[in-house]
Amino acid sequence: MAFEARVIDRSYATVHSALIGEHPTIRKLRALIERVARQDVTVLITGESGVGKEIVAQAIHDSSPRRDNPFVPVNCAALPHDLLESEMFGHQRGAFTGAATNRAGLFMSAGGGTIFLDEISEMPLGLQVKLLRVLEDGMVRPVGSDRGLRVDVRVIAATNADLNAMIARNAFREDLFYRLQVVPIVIPPLRERRSDIPLLVDHFLAQARVRHPGARPLRVSDEAMVHLWSYDWPGNVRELENLVERMIILCESDTIEVSLLPPNIANQSRTADEIPEKLDERGIDLNKLVKSIEGRLINQALRQTGGNKQAAARLLGLKRTTFAAKLRRCGVISPSDAD
Ligand SMILES: Nc1ncnc2c1ncn2[C@@H]1O[C@H](COP(=O)(O)OP(=O)(O)OP(=O)(O)O)[C@@H](O)[C@H]1O
Ligand SMILES: [Mg+2]
Repeated sequence: MAFEARVIDRSYATVHSALIGEHPTIRKLRALIERVARQDVTVLITGESGVGKEIVAQAIHDSSPRRDNPFVPVNCAALPHDLLESEMFGHQRGAFTGAATNRAGLFMSAGGGTIFLDEISEMPLGLQVKLLRVLEDGMVRPVGSDRGLRVDVRVIAATNADLNAMIARNAFREDLFYRLQVVPIVIPPLRERRSDIPLLVDHFLAQARVRHPGARPLRVSDEAMVHLWSYDWPGNVRELENLVERMIILCESDTIEVSLLPPNIANQSRTADEIPEKLDERGIDLNKLVKSIEGRLINQALRQTGGNKQAAARLLGLKRTTFAAKLRRCGVISPSDAD
């Protein structure tokens, strides 16, 4: 089993500016990052797989006074339970078979910096109690030692699990939950901030060019972008990033066309949007069809106007308020967003 223990020290500017997005939810998120970075509070980041939990954790660290010290991510799901404790808190020589020397744990390696406890829902209950103690008294106890060692570490945790449901079935400790989420940060799925898709695509295309200097610049055709915009992205930003990577490899011209997209993305709206020549006895779902056509045209208008809602509303012959209501219904902007 591979275990990632990366001690990362990147400059503030690189990482912070890497959090791409201009959707209102992302702008608010950026402001929240700035605010929580200044205080040493514990943060719990939640969101679906691939939404950017780690990049946000890193942005908090990089904007904080701790930025010159290590950022240490620990994936709580990647280690067998008994090893996780000694990885985190260290161990004393002879504490268990194979513990030939004293070893400092990841909390110690993160001294002065930030430890990022990823997939915190996977942490066994026994260890949750010990973590709670560390958060409360700022002391870690290496396995096999009864002496506590003082540590100065900020804790950021993340999960894509529903911790409330886990608490209800006694699989996660409620006291730890409240201690962790002094500031909760919820990252919305990509389908609730679709207007950021073109920005993210451009960002990943540009990143690929940095990695492969000399590669020719690529663009995504308008039609292909409409498909990317309409897709629901269950794997969120990571899925989009991987797709852009794949398209770069497959693309033989300077434009990424619909034909290059995987069938689930290329065909999704077309099948739903086609108006049949003749209605057969199975009938159609008129509401679904109308909604789907409406969604495509809205996406197209936003795409053509670079996300300018006023101009897009004009293109569609709608009042701005009607258009905003439609955007909310289609999930282009979330119900809580201001226009
Ligand atoms: N807003 C963003 N701007 C630029 N890149 C992003 C953004 N959000 C996510 N990414 C990129 O998408 C990928 C997935 O992000 P990240 O690893 O932070 O997600 P995650 O929520 O931790 O995923 P998982 O739940 O699978 O661990 C990373 O390569 C990250 O750099
Ligand atoms: Mg992650």
